[in-house]
Amino acid sequence: MEAVMNNVTIEKAKTSKIKDVDFDNLSFGSIFTDHMLVCDYKNGQWQAPKVVPYQPITLDPSSKIFHYGQSIFEGMKAYKDESGSVWLFRPLENFKRLNKSAKRMAMPELPESSFMDGLTALLQVDSDWIPQSAGSSLYIRPFMFASGNGFHASPADEYKFIIALAPSGSYFSGKVKVLIEKQYSRAANGGVGFAKTGGNYAGQFYPTRLAAEKGYQQVIWTDDNNHEFIEEAGAMNVFIRINDTLLTAPTNDRILDGITRKSILDIAEDEGIKTEIRKVSVKEVVEAAKNGSLKEMFGAGTAAVVSPISAFGYEGVDYDLPELEDSYAALLKKRITDIQYNRAEDKFGWRHEVV
Ligand SMILES: Cc1ncc(COP(=O)(O)O)c(C=O)c1O
Repeated sequence: MEAVMNNVTIEKAKTSKIKDVDFDNLSFGSIFTDHMLVCDYKNGQWQAPKVVPYQPITLDPSSKIFHYGQSIFEGMKAYKDESGSVWLFRPLENFKRLNKSAKRMAMPELPESSFMDGLTALLQVDSDWIPQSAGSSLYIRPFMFASGNGFHASPADEYKFIIALAPSGSYFSGKVKVLIEKQYSRAANGGVGFAKTGGNYAGQFYPTRLAAEKGYQQVIWTDDNNHEFIEEAGAMNVFIRINDTLLTAPTNDRILDGITRKSILDIAEDEGIKTEIRKVSVKEVVEAAKNGSLKEMFGAGTAAVVSPISAFGYEGVDYDLPELEDSYAALLKKRITDIQYNRAEDKFGWRHEVV
């Protein structure tokens, strides 16, 4: 049976898989809800979005996604508070970034109503899937890819926008040990590093595997010129605390403009923490580790929230970070998650209720 909500057609699944899910032991992004949102681009226009049962997609072998990698995505979360209300965190920032990525990858930009009304309808249909347990949330994966056919190396004429949902626990299970990369690069000037496009992640897998073989969970990328300055990690922006100043790299065309990053900068300022957005050299970080002024390093991103770094490796030497009682990471994580889960006042106006 079909219903319509805010111009979004809804086709309900005949049965639900929810009773098979152990909500107390959720991993990250590996089980999916009963429905998904699908919106097709054809004949030069976006069609009306539809909520349909979660299902596989059939594509022609010549679909351009397979050959030329026109593929972009976003990562967001829905949070359920104690009273059962559902919240998003700065969703329009994800919408805007999706279209920024779309433009760079020569893909059609999506109308705001298809994104927001489609996501709202999907979350309403699958609201029972949003976990309420501490540290868990519903991970939201909006993505778009070239579904049009042909071997000609040019942009496709058809695209699909989909939103899939995965009830999820934490991304990392503990503190993270990272390797500061000296050889490989994630992105280059004039390239696509700022876009959330599949190839940026595929390109990281091999160097990250090499780092994992040496005992590091993540690579910290450095600039492609001389590997001199800290840029970002796999799916996180990076913060460094030297003495009591919090440092992070400026965004540019090699770095993803993280929504967690900019929120953390605003919260830190609100807390009276001194922040500096500037190039941070690996040399400066190594020296600070040696002379004891390096207090903390942490990653920040939607999936990993705020993830403290326990140690970093550089040129064959591991540098341990101290265990702090009053870490900025713990303070900032609490402030941001209290806003996300509707446990504290939201003076910035970031929370968005799903009704
Ligand atoms: C490469 C990269 N950097 C940083 C981030 C953090 O961005 P956000 O805070 O918007 O999730 C992500 C995750 O989306 C990412 O993939």
